[in-house]
Amino acid sequence: MQALRQWCRGRVPVVTRWWQSRVPVSGEQLLAMTNEPVPNHLKRWWFCLGGTPAYLFVVQVVTGIMLAVYYQPSAETAYDSVRYITHEATFGWYFRSLHKWAATFMIAAVILHQMRVFFTGAYREPRELNWVVGMLLLLCTLGLGFTGYSLVFEQLSYWGATVGANICDQVPLIGGISKNFMLGGEEYSSRTLSRFYVLHAAVLPAAVVGLLVIHITFIRMHGITELKFDDEPEDQPKHFNFFPDHLYTEILIGLLLMILLSVLATIQPADLGHPADPLTTPEVIKPEWFFYVTFRWLKLFSGTFAVLSMGLVVFAMIVWPWIDAQLRRWTKSEIASICIGVAVAVAIIGMTVWEAAVAH
Ligand code: HEM
Repeated sequence: MQALRQWCRGRVPVVTRWWQSRVPVSGEQLLAMTNEPVPNHLKRWWFCLGGTPAYLFVVQVVTGIMLAVYYQPSAETAYDSVRYITHEATFGWYFRSLHKWAATFMIAAVILHQMRVFFTGAYREPRELNWVVGMLLLLCTLGLGFTGYSLVFEQLSYWGATVGANICDQVPLIGGISKNFMLGGEEYSSRTLSRFYVLHAAVLPAAVVGLLVIHITFIRMHGITELKFDDEPEDQPKHFNFFPDHLYTEILIGLLLMILLSVLATIQPADLGHPADPLTTPEVIKPEWFFYVTFRWLKLFSGTFAVLSMGLVVFAMIVWPWIDAQLRRWTKSEIASICIGVAVAVAIIGMTVWEAAVAH
């Protein structure tokens, strides 16, 4: 043991020299690159929610790779491969359930993060473009949820995707083409599954990575919005270090989330409904919870009006920083913007609960 220790000690400087000549970055340089001072309010969980979807995205990539080992995207094999993962592959149920729960948490975390950015006005000049990047991240995250659910090829996911395609069909002028492009034909088939699989496992994750790089670059360029709290003493420093202080907080949140996800995966594992049957429309068609609001909207105002008004709401959300600036110029206060935010949040939550509560 003594000899081994001495042998190792003798080799360490050689290895260090070898590494530093190939990767000429010192520990101090690395620290300077990563160590941005962050405002004190990031010690409160509500204000550092941005790290949570980033962590959950990593969980999704890792568990998604595990699932991709067995998943086979074709109408004949998709359902059976998911059944194999759920009931036969070693720990298949665990990875599939982690993937499902982490998707739910990721969408919830993105929405909560967006709400905190909204209600603290952190999207205002000069951060408008980062809000737009955030909106694209939200749309990609919802796209991942939609395509992922549709890959299972069970009754509900089949009919959910069919309803999604019919929504596309309602868009004036380009409706027919976009439905055809989405399904790869007139109806949900093997061609649809391979399209959704490419979107779900390659295009959308790559888009999320690219958008995240831009999002974080903007955050580094502008810094995080400084907020003032009444309970913070004036004489205390206003910032603390990202490394290691904030990183420890994020690691702790990550560990707690992993425990929570594992518990949920064990007590409420991902289930599997009946295989897709294109000839039998189920009595109740429900999408995943994050599309309840869209579904309810479609039921309230059917047809082209519902689709166009939904598109308008999404567009208004994307350009919100400029709408807000105009509103504040007119009213000389931010009350109108806050009222609109509260009304939209109440409407979204209300319609989601309404859709969850009714059978049809
Ligand atoms: C995958 C999704 C997302 C990830 C991983 C993410 C990550 C982050 C992180 C780590 C921060 C630093 C501060 C914090 O932790 O809150 C941040 C700030 C920010 N995010 Fe996101 N974000 C996402 C989605 C969004 C969305 C949907 C929006 C809005 C539409 C948005 C808009 C912003 C803005 C404007 C800031 C700057 C906030 C400030 O200066 O205080 N992000 N994001």
